[in-house]
Amino acid sequence: MTLSVPGRLPTALTVAAAALLTGGTVAWAAPAPATPRAAAAAPDIPVANVKAHLARLQSIATANGGNRAHGRSGNKASLDYVKSKLDAAGFATSVQQFTSSGRTGYNLVADWPGGDTGHVVMTGAHLDSVSAGPGINDDGSGSAATLETALAVSRTGYHPAKHLRFAWWGAEELGMVGSRTYVNGLSAADRSKITAYLNFDMIGSPNPGYFVYDDDPALEKTFQDYFTGLGIATEPETEGDGRSDHAPFKNAGIPVGGLFSGADYIKTAAQATKWGGTSGRAFDRCYHQACDTSANIDDTALDHDSDAVAYAVWTLSS
Ligand code: TRP
Ligand code: CA
Ligand code: ZN
Repeated sequence: MTLSVPGRLPTALTVAAAALLTGGTVAWAAPAPATPRAAAAAPDIPVANVKAHLARLQSIATANGGNRAHGRSGNKASLDYVKSKLDAAGFATSVQQFTSSGRTGYNLVADWPGGDTGHVVMTGAHLDSVSAGPGINDDGSGSAATLETALAVSRTGYHPAKHLRFAWWGAEELGMVGSRTYVNGLSAADRSKITAYLNFDMIGSPNPGYFVYDDDPALEKTFQDYFTGLGIATEPETEGDGRSDHAPFKNAGIPVGGLFSGADYIKTAAQATKWGGTSGRAFDRCYHQACDTSANIDDTALDHDSDAVAYAVWTLSS
């Protein structure tokens, strides 16, 4: 925030007078920037808040037969939790229902009022787990980081130039059913308004890597810039083409980006050298298993990737 006196620069006299009047310290107010709209800095996402959402998703799974899978009670309970947080924060939420394998599934879409609705920056993660376990890394991690980023938009009173939309998909584990249903339901005009779709599916892997989707060069660079600032080397995500909810968007011609910390592939020695962790072991040994619990998370990767989500949302929408 830059404080300035409208129409003039503060002189030494006015600054000194203000200090006399307030009895306070003389604070130098920088001149107003030449550009009318300064890009707002992205907030640091508190990883403790992201972990609190994960703890909640874990309890939901525990109370509902150990999973949050499509067509099971834990899936709807997960949606109700995320929706209540967004409603309380001032988002306009809507639930899209669909049927897959004879069971009802849900997409939750949350719009932040304001911004140019002709230019939509959309962020998403899938809220269903496999039936084998609670799905805390896959994809509680992306769901929680997306939720906390949305809540940070509200908390900071962010007024982006572009319109922000967030989504939590159903039935990704059945073949991206929810996200495909959403994209198929958009008119050509509405599709063309989405300038970027950012996907976060597995961003807290216990033996983590820092993979950036390489689908769109500009979106890829946005994430790379963030990690360069942290001094962390990234690699292009090449495993996942077609393996998560960005695929239906990409197929519809929408630019996509995202992050991934690794699933069942094995970390190489070179990767362990740059990222730490254990070479010769999977990035996530509990991928699609019962042990994908709250214990199956690397807090540092979750923190960096959550901050990168916010950085991208702010940078691309301001
Ligand atoms: N949910 C995805 C899946 O079950 C997770 C995944 C595996 C993934 N590999 C990926 C997501 C690569 C993005 C990129 O297949
Ligand atoms: Ca953080
Ligand atoms: Zn997933």
